[in-house]
Amino acid sequence: MVAITRNAIQTGKFTRTRRTRSTETLRSLVRETRLDPAQFIYPMFVTHGTNVRTPIDSMPGQYQLSLDQMEREARELREVGVRAVLLFGLPADKDPEGTEAYAPDGIVQMAVRELKRVDPDLVVIVDVCLCEYTDHGHCGLLTPTGEVDNDPSLTLLSRMAVTCAEAGADIIAPSDMMDGRIGAIREALDEAGFESLPIMAYSAKYASGFYGPFREAAGSTPQFGDRRGYQMDPANAREARREVQADTEEWADITMVKPALAYLDVIRDVRDHTDLPLAAYNVSGEYAMVKAAAGNNWIEERRIVLEILTAIARAGASIIITYHAKDAARWIREDRA
Ligand code: PBG
Repeated sequence: MVAITRNAIQTGKFTRTRRTRSTETLRSLVRETRLDPAQFIYPMFVTHGTNVRTPIDSMPGQYQLSLDQMEREARELREVGVRAVLLFGLPADKDPEGTEAYAPDGIVQMAVRELKRVDPDLVVIVDVCLCEYTDHGHCGLLTPTGEVDNDPSLTLLSRMAVTCAEAGADIIAPSDMMDGRIGAIREALDEAGFESLPIMAYSAKYASGFYGPFREAAGSTPQFGDRRGYQMDPANAREARREVQADTEEWADITMVKPALAYLDVIRDVRDHTDLPLAAYNVSGEYAMVKAAAGNNWIEERRIVLEILTAIARAGASIIITYHAKDAARWIREDRA
């Protein structure tokens, strides 16, 4: 006679958890986290010109796109069930004040108009920041000694938010990390009559090496110094709560942790301390690593991507900004069918 061990999880040779793993239908029944294409936001880089589809070397499968490509993108996104995009503009000219960022006919404002024209239901979100538009590549204005000048930058960021709202944007997403920007932008939007337009704040945005490929894609590498003076130190987690708290007090509607993968603990911690919808940004470097390894057949891309996105959702993000959005949405639908 074999003695039967009885404890919280084990009787005989099967643990309780293993009994629910034997078939896919059982696994699906007890699954705690499910991905849905409706929770994805797809980032896009828009540029001047016609018929432009310039591949971004370090981000295989991603492109700099001209306005005439928006219709095709909107169609592809609709087909796979991704219903939100995040826009980054590549201006014709850069200057110290980032003028095109807040020009009513700037590239990003025109892209908003075009996307809303071809697909009025698509949620069009604009990344509000000056770094793609300034010749020095910093996220705000500079003082004569080269420091980022917080308060004057707020005026320009607010102007960018309002011009994007006028173009028809559905959500404003400030990523600049200036102090007080959420409140300043909220006030400017309200004054301009956009009281109902939500703000998605890049609240806990870390000074990360994982943004490398994005800076190639958007041509926004700082020409001197780095962003450590205004983005968060990767070593800090409690500070993320304070950033989220500050943005919440300034009336952010959605909050964000960025990057995602090396910061899953921060996502979990923020989730446990706020009731706002929480987004996580699966950034360019995270995408580039997966694509590079998959391109060498070192990993299985489909499996790894879905595992990564599931982990981000499991950590507590209900919204995921990801360059994998189209592929992942297709795979999720195939798995469901
Ligand atoms: C700033 C901004 C950046 C990203 C999104 N918004 C770059 C930065 O802070 O240097 C990075 C996104 C990514 O790496 O995918 N406008």
